[in-house]
Amino acid sequence: MFTGLAVTLLLMTIRMVSPQITGMVVDDVIMGGELDLLPKLLILMAALTVGSGASIYLRGLIFEKVSMEMVYNIRTRLFEHLHELPFRFYDNHRIGEIMSRMTGDIEAIRNFISSGIVTIIEQSLYYIGAMIMICTISPLLAVILLLITPVLAVVCYKYNRAIRPRFDRIRDQGAVLNARAQENISGIRVVKAYAREDYEKERFARENNKHRDFGIDISNTVAKFHPIIEFIASIIPAVMLLVGGLLAVQGIITPGEVVKVFGYLWMISDPMRMVANILNMISQTASSGERLFYYTDIGSEIKEDPNPQYPKEFTGHVRFDHVNFSYGDEPVLTDINIDVPAGHTLAIMGATGSGKTSVVNLLGRFYECQSGVVSIDGIDVKKYPMKALRRNLGYVMQETFLFSDTLRDNIAFGRPDASQEAIEQAADIAQATEYISGMDLGYDTIVGERGMGLSGGQKQRAAIARAIVLDPKILILDDATSAVDLETESAIQQGLKKVLKGRTTFIISHRISAVKDADEIIVLDAGRIAERGTHETLMKEKGLYYGIFMDQYRDYQSVLGAKEVG
Ligand SMILES: Nc1ncnc2c1ncn2[C@@H]1O[C@H](COP(=O)(O)OP(=O)(O)OP(=O)(O)O)[C@@H](O)[C@H]1O
Ligand SMILES: [Mg+2]
Repeated sequence: MFTGLAVTLLLMTIRMVSPQITGMVVDDVIMGGELDLLPKLLILMAALTVGSGASIYLRGLIFEKVSMEMVYNIRTRLFEHLHELPFRFYDNHRIGEIMSRMTGDIEAIRNFISSGIVTIIEQSLYYIGAMIMICTISPLLAVILLLITPVLAVVCYKYNRAIRPRFDRIRDQGAVLNARAQENISGIRVVKAYAREDYEKERFARENNKHRDFGIDISNTVAKFHPIIEFIASIIPAVMLLVGGLLAVQGIITPGEVVKVFGYLWMISDPMRMVANILNMISQTASSGERLFYYTDIGSEIKEDPNPQYPKEFTGHVRFDHVNFSYGDEPVLTDINIDVPAGHTLAIMGATGSGKTSVVNLLGRFYECQSGVVSIDGIDVKKYPMKALRRNLGYVMQETFLFSDTLRDNIAFGRPDASQEAIEQAADIAQATEYISGMDLGYDTIVGERGMGLSGGQKQRAAIARAIVLDPKILILDDATSAVDLETESAIQQGLKKVLKGRTTFIISHRISAVKDADEIIVLDAGRIAERGTHETLMKEKGLYYGIFMDQYRDYQSVLGAKEVG
């Protein structure tokens, strides 16, 4: 950047010298008759022209490079920062909006760095330099020029006040538009299935209209101020010609000096003309910068403990002590107490929305409980080094997400160095081998975005394999087999039983068949533990669990004609 500025200074100096030469041509050669001076002056002029061309080339190169580097850094930092932000951030921000920041706003900043900064520095230096040069020729002319400046300043101030909020508005609207498009394209299958294309088109058109209107509004504002600024800039030569001509006639300055003044005039009027553009650029960059910094400043409310603790041996003994939790104001979990010794299996049942997923979210510190303690091996999860904690957890999330990558890389996501055997073994336990080997490319099959191209059950099985490969101390299966048939589910359970010996397991499921073998089963009701026990004790209690059981096996019973089940 400093090299670039040095080159800019060089260019400026060259441009400052040039009018001096034209002035000399008029005064010394034409008026003074020193003809032998002419070739020397012409050669100097040519040299200066080459010099200015070279500086312009160099300057462009340097500032483009600087802007690319800066944008690279900003983008990298932002991307890294997005990975530090908690789940809650993503609950509240739309992906399209984030994408718009990552692209449009960063591009605005790049523009400013690559051309804005140079323009501002260059134009102000021209203005000051030219003023000084004119002052040495005729202080009167310089004073007249200076008198115009406050008028221009007032106009600019008003212009800036008008344009800035408009740029803020169009930037925000751009993000809204982006978010709309992104969400709509992600959900295109639903839109088509419900034949809601027209509705969606109209919704998009509404936001698009707003964006266009805001754009037109900006153009109108620019257009209103432009003639005023242009007028001020173009009366300058007329005034100079008048006053300069009078001074020359009276012999106060020479005709050559009038020519010199005119050689500097563009250095005064150009910055004036550009002032509107410069203000636009500053406003736009400020709008974009503000929004980017909003993201980088937002921080994570889930912070790494400055003095992290880690147990001597991570065995996976999980405890919840009087845990209360809410996402907002409404309590989601109330007074949860659980104790899962290392290697035990806890099953969580309960109606949808009763808080099952929320319980396991606290385990990996994706959210933090408001009171009570979630601990593993006697250490509060808030005290663990975050990554070390999460490496011990194998999550199979309720919503399966696969990356648009090969099945192999998807399964080995948590352990990229996993051997092919380990991957195959995991796939085997997850009952995924059969469908994977049935594919032409096998493990090299690239699955579409979010696993498109696989069936729901196939995706789930790949996700289970992904958790198993990790070889975690604690395995969390959040409705992990909801999309596979009962037979496959039972095969997966048999397989898991073998490998998961000595591993703490959380099973969330709506199916009795998936939870009945757990060491303890808890039934959540509106965020409270309503029942707890083993399959046998809960069946005897004849409470919620028994009710679920009866619902699921009533048909079965009637088919079999059995008198007693359980
Ligand atoms: N990210 C979130 N922000 C705000 N509220 C949430 C969020 N996630 C869940 N909730 C609310 O918390 C409550 C419990 O949700 P949770 O996902 O834990 O239920 P669940 O028992 O897992 O249900 P399901 O069986 O349908 O998966 C629900 O009322 C839900 O609306
Ligand atoms: Mg859930």
